[in-house]
Amino acid sequence: MKPTALVAGNWKMNGLAASRSELEALAVLLKGGAKAACNVLICPPYTLISTFAEMNTDGIAVGAQDCHTGVSGAHTGDISAQMLRDAGAKYIIVGHSERRADHAESSSLVCEKACAVHSEGLRAIICVGETEAERDAGNTLAVVLEQLAISVPEEASPENTIIAYEPVWAIGTGRTPTVDDVAEVHTAIRQALEERFGAEGTGFAILYGGSVKPSNAKELMSAPNVNGALVGGASLKATDFNGIIDAYR
Ligand code: 13P
Repeated sequence: MKPTALVAGNWKMNGLAASRSELEALAVLLKGGAKAACNVLICPPYTLISTFAEMNTDGIAVGAQDCHTGVSGAHTGDISAQMLRDAGAKYIIVGHSERRADHAESSSLVCEKACAVHSEGLRAIICVGETEAERDAGNTLAVVLEQLAISVPEEASPENTIIAYEPVWAIGTGRTPTVDDVAEVHTAIRQALEERFGAEGTGFAILYGGSVKPSNAKELMSAPNVNGALVGGASLKATDFNGIIDAYR
């Protein structure tokens, strides 16, 4: 099975009601350009999910950046996958390195969150990635494969799960690994998925994230076992994000 490519924008803690215009601009660019051979997703902050979903923008799915493990209950300030589905989200990112760092999220918690996403019939984008110190110590593959093994639940399938490899040191820094380094990690992730899930392992989309921009997207997306991008900063501007989607035109 060949993975369906996905170009996903993670807006992080950015975006106000006025950002509707950016989604409208992206829809116009997608409609006006050649059809891209990838799915397109925007994950705005929670406050914009229903607004964006109600815009019903052709060809742009809406997703969330995190969720709680539970469905409802006494968890002040948290939000469940069921609520996000209700608001119109089709995908939920779990285990982003900023959540792992800022909120001490472990891989086993990430796994529980992915299960919560699946319980609602939504797709989980499960993030993994090494820090700079871990890379410098030669531990990149060990760290990434351990995160993968623990964070990805048993019921994961290519239909309900996408993996995102995001080296922590490449996020928001303008630095990226070489294409060979990206290929090495993505190929190791693919092998691990095939070992665990058999033939189904070939079908999971594996996204690269970390300083993806229009100028480097084509090269990064052409690496073996790279099936799309998870984009932070450059997803906030429709023209930049569309320039990344160009890698699939
Ligand atoms: P940047 O594209 O801003 O480096 O962010 C990547 C990221 O963390 C996406 O989830």
